[in-house]
This record gives sequence, structure tokens and C-alpha cells, in this order.
Amino acid sequence: MKTLENIRIEVMQTIEKNIDSFIEKYLIPVEKIWQPTDFLPNSQKDNFLEEVTALRELSKELDYDLLVTLVADTITEEALPTYEAWLMNLNGVQQQENGWSKWISTWTGEENRHGDVLNKYLYLSGRVNMREIEITTQHLIKDGFDIGTGRDPYKNFVYTSFQELATYISHNRVAKLARKKGNFALAKMCKVIAGDEMRHHKAYSEFVKKIFEYDPSEMMLAFYYMMKNKIVMPAVFLRESNEKKGTAFTYFSDAAQRIGVYTALDYIDIMQKLINQWELEKIRGLTEEAERARDYLLKLPERMLRISERIVIPQQQHQFKWLNPL
Ligand SMILES: [Fe+2]
Ligand SMILES: [Fe+2]
Repeated sequence: MKTLENIRIEVMQTIEKNIDSFIEKYLIPVEKIWQPTDFLPNSQKDNFLEEVTALRELSKELDYDLLVTLVADTITEEALPTYEAWLMNLNGVQQQENGWSKWISTWTGEENRHGDVLNKYLYLSGRVNMREIEITTQHLIKDGFDIGTGRDPYKNFVYTSFQELATYISHNRVAKLARKKGNFALAKMCKVIAGDEMRHHKAYSEFVKKIFEYDPSEMMLAFYYMMKNKIVMPAVFLRESNEKKGTAFTYFSDAAQRIGVYTALDYIDIMQKLINQWELEKIRGLTEEAERARDYLLKLPERMLRISERIVIPQQQHQFKWLNPL
């Protein structure tokens, strides 16, 4: 008898046959895609210092919570080694000579530009304690994450479908807030990152959709499992220097909620979007257990919405070591 794990590997191998067309459809060739320098003062140019001065002037307008969010978003992007290592370890992905590993490394190459551009912006802005940020980044990579998916590709693709959309939303909102402050350079950076996240989201969402065709019941159960246990944010272990693992995450999350960059409502909204994209109601041939999982999933957004009405976001700002005193 085939184990569930073996069936997963077979499904992964089937989808892998078309990996080149996915790469072509959802990722952009290196020479054609934007690079951080396109959005930052170019240090080879004579007007570099003037551009930096202008950048610093405009960054003075960024509020405390917005800066906290921008810093934490940057650190989350900078912890990319954790995500790449995690994905490379999935069942059905081998590190060499495998279509999936090609997907992951090409995706990683694109993602790497996000932390790069934001980090350079923050460094030039003069608004943050870069050394403290670097310490947090190093801690976060060292601490890793545990998103409760194990090596299961189904659960992981639910996770990445969800997360890419979550990062799309948050970068896009930061872009809007920056634009409101007249900071068009920062707005452009965040906007272009959001564009990448959306493309990535569409890709992972399509992988899940394909898996639903081949292995509907197990895919449904994986989606159920991830939603029931809740999506853990990649920066859940965020900490500042000399603090315990995870202590900074809630403060960051509160800041992001206060300014409406990423809220409980967004979480529910993403869930609903995934349910719609994967056309849960139309899926046929489910086992009894998977039918029950679908019922649960279809009702979940409504249920969470009722709970979310009771959530109170703390208004007290935390003094981060990343930023100057409040
Ligand atoms: Fe990213
Ligand atoms: Fe992403």
C-alpha cells in the first residue's frame, strides 16, 4: 500500500514536469527584473550625496509605528535563508537536479532583493539604529521558525500561498502610507516589492489548485490543518538584543495593526480569498473526513469575523531598540 507521503511525492513529481512553464509564467528573468539600485541613490553618481540628503529629509516624516513596521518587514525579508532552507527540505524537493529546487532557488533570488532594498533605505534614512536591527536579523535567522508544516509540501504550499498574499497586503499598505507622507521613493520600493509578492502568491496558489486536482482529500485536510492551527507569521521569533526569543513580535504586530498595515481582518480576508481561489465548494470525490474539513473551512471566515470583533489592539507603543526614544 502506498503511504500518504509517497502519494505526495508522486503528486509533486507530476507537477514538477511543468515547472519550467511555471517559472516562465510567474518569475521574471534576472536581467529583466528590477534591482534595489533602481530605487535608491546610486553611489557612483556625482549627485549621490544630494539624493541621500533628500531621502533623509523625507524620512523624517515617517511616524513611529510606520517605521517599526518597516523595520520588522525588512527583518522578515532578511530572514530569507530560513525560508529557503525550509522549502528545500520538503518531501518531493531534492536539492540537486530537481525542478522544484530550481523553482525555490529562482524564487529565492527574487525574494532576496526585498530585504536588500529596504535595508539600504533604512541605513540611508538615518532614522534607525542599524546595529540593533542587524542584531535582530541575526537572531531571527539563528532562531529559525516553526510553522507547523513539517516536510509536507501540501501544508507548506498553503502556508506560502497565505504568506505571499499577507506580504503583498502589508508592503502595499506601507507604500500607501509612505505616499501620503509625500515619500514617493519609499512608496515605489514597497509597491514594487508588493508586485513581486502578488506574482509569487499566484504561483503557490496555482500549485495548491493543481494538488486539489490530483489528491483532493489530502489537500483539503492539509488546508484544514493549517487554518485550524492558524498561520504562524514568519517573524514570530522576533527579538531585540539581549531579550528572549519572540518577545518583540507582539509589539511589532500591534504597531502594524494600529496603522492598519496588517490586521485580523486581513487574515480573515486572505482565508476567504484562498477558499474562493481553490473553489472549495466545487471539489468532488472527497472522503468523509475531507468533507467535514471542507464544511469547517467554509464556515471559518464567518466564525473568525465574529471573534475578531472582540479584539482590542493595545495602544501603548513599545520603545524598540531599533528606533530613537519615543
Ligand atoms: Fe518578499
Ligand atoms: Fe514573498
